[in-house]
Amino acid sequence: MHISASILNCNFLKLEEEIKKAEEAGIDSFHLDVMDGHFVPNLSFGTPIFNALKKVAQKPIITHLMVFSPIKMIEWFIPGSLGIIFHCEAMKDGKELKETINKIKENNLECGVALNPPTPIESIFPYLYELNEILIMSVYPGFGGQKFIPEVIKKIEDLKKLITKENLKITISVDGGVGPENSKLLILAGADKLIVGSAIFKEKDYSLVIKKIRNV
Ligand code: DX5
Ligand code: ZN
Repeated sequence: MHISASILNCNFLKLEEEIKKAEEAGIDSFHLDVMDGHFVPNLSFGTPIFNALKKVAQKPIITHLMVFSPIKMIEWFIPGSLGIIFHCEAMKDGKELKETINKIKENNLECGVALNPPTPIESIFPYLYELNEILIMSVYPGFGGQKFIPEVIKKIEDLKKLITKENLKITISVDGGVGPENSKLLILAGADKLIVGSAIFKEKDYSLVIKKIRNV
C-alpha cells in the first residue's frame, strides 16, 4: 500500500523537520495541494513551497492542482514532480481535458485526474487508456482535516472492477479524511494509494500512524 503524505496541514514553521519525520516514519511520497482560491474556496501554496520541499525531500512529489486552467501551471512544477493530478470538474470541455493530459505526458510525468465526491467515474471513461492515476476525493477539496465521506466507497469499488476487467494499469488514490480508522475499508474497496494529511501531522508519533494504516 502506497502512502502519500499531504503536507497541507503540517507545521510550516518546521517544514524540513516535518518532511524528514514523515520519511523516517515510512511514507512513500509527498502530496502537494496547490489551490487557486477560485476552483476551491482556499489558497494554499505554489512554487516557493514546492522548491523548498524539493530541496529536502528524498521521496517523490506528486502535485495535486486544485485550480482552473491547470495547463498553464504544469511547467511550474517541472522538474521535481513525479506526477501531476488535475481536476475533471475544472475543465471547460473534453478538449481541454485531453490537452491537459497531453501536456503532462509530453513532459514525461505521470498523469492523474481527480474526481470530486459527486462526480461520477463515467466522466473520465473516454480517457482511461491515457491515465496513470485516478484520484477519488473523499472530501470536498479545499481544506485538510475534513470528515471522510463514506459514499465514495462505492465509486472505488466500481472503478476497481472496471480497471481489473479492462486490465488497465491505473492507480486508484483516495484523498481526504483518510486515516487508520478507514484505511482497511479503502484497501478492501480497491484503493492502491492513500493520501494522508492531518491523520499523520496531528499526531506525535508519525511511525505509529503509518503502521496502523498499513497493518489493517
Ligand atoms: C483536500 C486536499 C487533501 C487534504 C488531505 O483539498 O486535496 O490532500 O490535504 O488532508 P486530510 O488527510 O487532512 O484530509
Ligand atoms: Zn490533495
